Amino acid sequence: MTKRIANRMAQISPFYVMALLQRAKELEQQGKDIIHLGIGEPDFPTPKLVAKAGMELIATGEVKYTAAAGLPQLRERIAQFYQETYGVKVAKERIFITPGASGAFLLALGASLNPDDEVLMSDPCYPCNSNFVSLFNAKTRFVPVNAASDYQLTADAIKAHWQPYTKGVLIASPSNPTGTLIKAAALQQAIAQTSALGGCFFSDEIYHGLVYDGQATTALQFSDDVFVINSFSKYFGMTGWRIGWLIVPEVFIEPVEKLAQNLFIATSTASQYAALAAFEPETILELERRRVEFSKRRDYLYQALQSLGFTLETKPEGAFYIYANCAKFTNDSFQFARDLLETVGVAVTPGKDFGNHAENHYIRFAYTTSIERMAVAIARIHDFIGRL
Ligand SMILES: Cc1ncc(COP(=O)(O)O)c(C=O)c1O
Repeated sequence: MTKRIANRMAQISPFYVMALLQRAKELEQQGKDIIHLGIGEPDFPTPKLVAKAGMELIATGEVKYTAAAGLPQLRERIAQFYQETYGVKVAKERIFITPGASGAFLLALGASLNPDDEVLMSDPCYPCNSNFVSLFNAKTRFVPVNAASDYQLTADAIKAHWQPYTKGVLIASPSNPTGTLIKAAALQQAIAQTSALGGCFFSDEIYHGLVYDGQATTALQFSDDVFVINSFSKYFGMTGWRIGWLIVPEVFIEPVEKLAQNLFIATSTASQYAALAAFEPETILELERRRVEFSKRRDYLYQALQSLGFTLETKPEGAFYIYANCAKFTNDSFQFARDLLETVGVAVTPGKDFGNHAENHYIRFAYTTSIERMAVAIARIHDFIGRL
């Protein structure tokens, strides 16, 4: 029987938090009150104008395929967004509309990786991207990182870990699970180092826009020879619409277009029309209000976790995560997460979802719920820790 399953499936890791989420749902069905600090999804609804634009398109009944690369007006609008936000010029031909950042990664990695190639990623990092690498029969070389480099890969680490089969480097800033940003100079050096070694640079910028201190820098500020992956999921509050974008180096336009035609034909047409409204001033105003709210939540949770005794090695500057060291309470953060859910109804994500580097000593908290609910969660965690 198992012979029918592809060998590569052994390399694809499950998302452990999904098992916890499933259990949380069961407990909720039994009438228990669960506070969700595990989910990496904004709790805010799709912005009104965005939902309206999507519904208007659906109401016309003209919901046909678009070009594989996406609606020309959306690609143009994204190019304009880069000019306005970062002062960089991007040719619209280099911009592909994709089914989320996930679709963007499939295209970028599919068009650049040969079997047995390696991609360097930080440990901890968001797990799906390395599973995509495995899907193309390539490998991920995880590089342990810590607070000293803001949990980001440095140019020196890239050079030290580069192997004959290394094909590229993937950096995510702000990072999931740590919420930390790579500094502009460090990003520039990492890109230059990768370029000197002849590799591809993949910059996951999905949490841009959700930055509370300092400013996020796009890889495009330093080079045109980079892949930039972004999405309408997080800052724009459109997770379920499955829409994002990919910017490719010029030589990859043709290969990525071919792959997009075959993998997706096109991204959801209603989502593309909806996304056009994501850049309207009224929408941006609402999204900026949400950003301020996330910033307040971050400050609240950061302080509250510290007073509970968690060790916070950096202050996260973006995304909506705090990666807390819980070594004071446990040597098994997965069990800790399970017990926290079962006994006091608080759902969090265990470190082992993000890598193998000291993973048993970390928990990711997502501040994707209100301060009022987080306050209840903190009181419950206080009780739980008191009973250990
Ligand atoms: C760092 C990172 N990259 C990519 C994704 C994929 O996002 P989507 O496919 O919803 O755009 C996520 C989702 O949580 C993420 O955290």
